[in-house]
Amino acid sequence: VQTATGVAHSKFILIGEHAVVHGQPAIALPFPLVGVESVVDYVPGSVKLDSTFYYGPIETAPDSLDGLTNCIRKTLTKLDLPCSDLLIRIKSSIPPGKGLGSSASVAIAVIRSLFAYAEQDYTEEDILELADISERYAHGEPSGIDTLTITSELPIWYEKDRPMCRIEPKGDFYFIVADSGRMGDTRSAVESVADLIKSAPKRIQSKLDRIGEVTHRARNALESASKHLLGQMLNEAQKELEALGVSDAGLNRLIYFARQEGALGAKLTGGGNGGCIIALARNEVHSRQLSEKLKKFGAHAVWSFALKKS
Ligand code: PMV
Repeated sequence: VQTATGVAHSKFILIGEHAVVHGQPAIALPFPLVGVESVVDYVPGSVKLDSTFYYGPIETAPDSLDGLTNCIRKTLTKLDLPCSDLLIRIKSSIPPGKGLGSSASVAIAVIRSLFAYAEQDYTEEDILELADISERYAHGEPSGIDTLTITSELPIWYEKDRPMCRIEPKGDFYFIVADSGRMGDTRSAVESVADLIKSAPKRIQSKLDRIGEVTHRARNALESASKHLLGQMLNEAQKELEALGVSDAGLNRLIYFARQEGALGAKLTGGGNGGCIIALARNEVHSRQLSEKLKKFGAHAVWSFALKKS
């Protein structure tokens, strides 16, 4: 039996996080600068994982890996393979807990490597269905935006309970993703917004509606190559996210610095209260300069990423 490999890129949410949980749209981008590789080999004995987060048989893996181990079991069943005699080596360059879809990327790379090992083709539906098993453990009620974006090459327009669609950007957009260094906890951030809705329904609903409105305008900006408009919409969304209490001091510090250094817009990405920010640079040169400045300013990791017109 041959060694088999599966890979998956990462993702970030451009705009619409939190509001998307309450029925508004969100836009997410595939982020190929970090990702996961999973390599499967025949090794007699049980199914074993070899990764930075765990080394050993899946039976004795920590509870935090229940999502992944169940996803592996279900995938093997679907492939008519016995749950034994495999070594799955996982290498990831995605920082976990930073809103970049680490858990979904790991699951998708592993599923792809198991299909390759079984020499079977898969459909996108196969991957989404199996990865959802893992995501339900990580997020409780995942919106599904992570898995959809990780299996896409184009930005995703996502609304709960509606068929997703892909967005074709009409210009080149230069983004910077910068890590604040603190791990975020998406589940508790989502719960804190739900609590706010209970305590002040009208006031909070108007903020979520406003995020929905600027997300629609952000889509128009992508589709009409209006980077200034997109930058303004990112800033508008950030204002509402701050009012929702999901942007912490570490994120705000990087966001304000990026704007001061000429970013057209900057906001948190993902669940917030830790994790990463995104900034929209003026052009390619500015993107390089700004990412250097953010590194010197103390961002833990910085990536410059160009979304090219399709
Ligand atoms: O932290 P992430 O990248 O998983 O993003 C969470 C996005 C939320 O809108 C806050 C939650 C969700 O399930 O959509």
